[in-house]
Amino acid sequence: MDEKKVMLSGIQPSGELHLGNYLGAVRNWPEMIEEFDCYFFMADLHTITVRQEPAQLRRRVLTQVAQYIACGLNPEKCTIFIQSHVPAHAQLGWVLDCYTMFGELSRMTQFKDKSAKHKDNINAGLFTYPALMAADILLYQPDFVPVGEDQKQHVEICRDIAERFNGIYGDVFKIPAPHIPKVGARVMSLNDPTSKMSKSNLEGCVILMDKPEEIMRKFKRAVTDSDTERCVRFAPQEKPGVSNMMQIYASVTGKTFEEIEAEFEGKGYGAFKPAVGEAVVEALRPIREETERLLADKSYLEGVYKAGADRAEYTANKTLRKVYKKIGFVPR
Ligand code: TYM
Repeated sequence: MDEKKVMLSGIQPSGELHLGNYLGAVRNWPEMIEEFDCYFFMADLHTITVRQEPAQLRRRVLTQVAQYIACGLNPEKCTIFIQSHVPAHAQLGWVLDCYTMFGELSRMTQFKDKSAKHKDNINAGLFTYPALMAADILLYQPDFVPVGEDQKQHVEICRDIAERFNGIYGDVFKIPAPHIPKVGARVMSLNDPTSKMSKSNLEGCVILMDKPEEIMRKFKRAVTDSDTERCVRFAPQEKPGVSNMMQIYASVTGKTFEEIEAEFEGKGYGAFKPAVGEAVVEALRPIREETERLLADKSYLEGVYKAGADRAEYTANKTLRKVYKKIGFVPR
């Protein structure tokens, strides 16, 4: 029998999960768990490249475990774990640091953005972050890594690192491919449609746990475009605000851009914005309610992430042992 293909992805619990994380990543995962051997984790090791408040970090990791499940990841059918519970990530991360070049890390967009934003804390971890991410991925020998557009560069450097390592030691790592969704791969900020939706600009960012009133308020205040035509038409260059909301609407309703244009013909932005808001409220409502229910059941969540760590560790350690052996480390 053919072995199942493997896929893996993670999210940093450095803030609350938002609509960009949902549409660009998590939402596309549940359909994969039937077909593939899937690993999903909370990338907590990555979050400390920027200072975190300890109590908040703990709370967000647990909320994220609950949200993964609430979004449809059945823990019986996939492996859900917390990155710091599997030491092999940090161990392989160090090894890969030594096979990653200063020049290639200097070119990473996320490093440039984050070091500009956190000038007082440009630490070594922020710089070598992509090597740890490569370790996260390569430990599980996945065939593909589903991420939003902004993480494509990191999956590409992971492939380069893996190819370099394989070039020296033979076929140790499978070379993974990024898997980017067709719609929702790059959700833009509601109040600044030229930058991606992110937790660093909360006014333009819809949080999965936002109450319906809050979501509606953010959509009603969303920036539309200053063109004179004022009609709902998909044109990302000329009309980035409206096009972004059309992408969001298309992702949550499954409608095509043509259908959306027809639906709002002659209606203008005043009708469009609350309609998108309502569609998002309805898409997120069951997730928020289920997350709240799961968060009240701490022992269930603990059972999920402990079992997940055991399964993840088994696979990760197999790869790590192989790597150590190839490098020439003496087995214990
Ligand atoms: P992170 O935590 O920034 O984002 C998690 C996922 O959400 C996607 N995403 C978006 N998609 C569409 N529109 C947006 N505005 C948007 N914002 C975020 C991201 O592309 C990502 O898929 N380094 C990673 C976490 C990570 C990881 C890994 C991912 C660590 N190790 C191994 C995959 C495999 C990160 O910071 O993603």
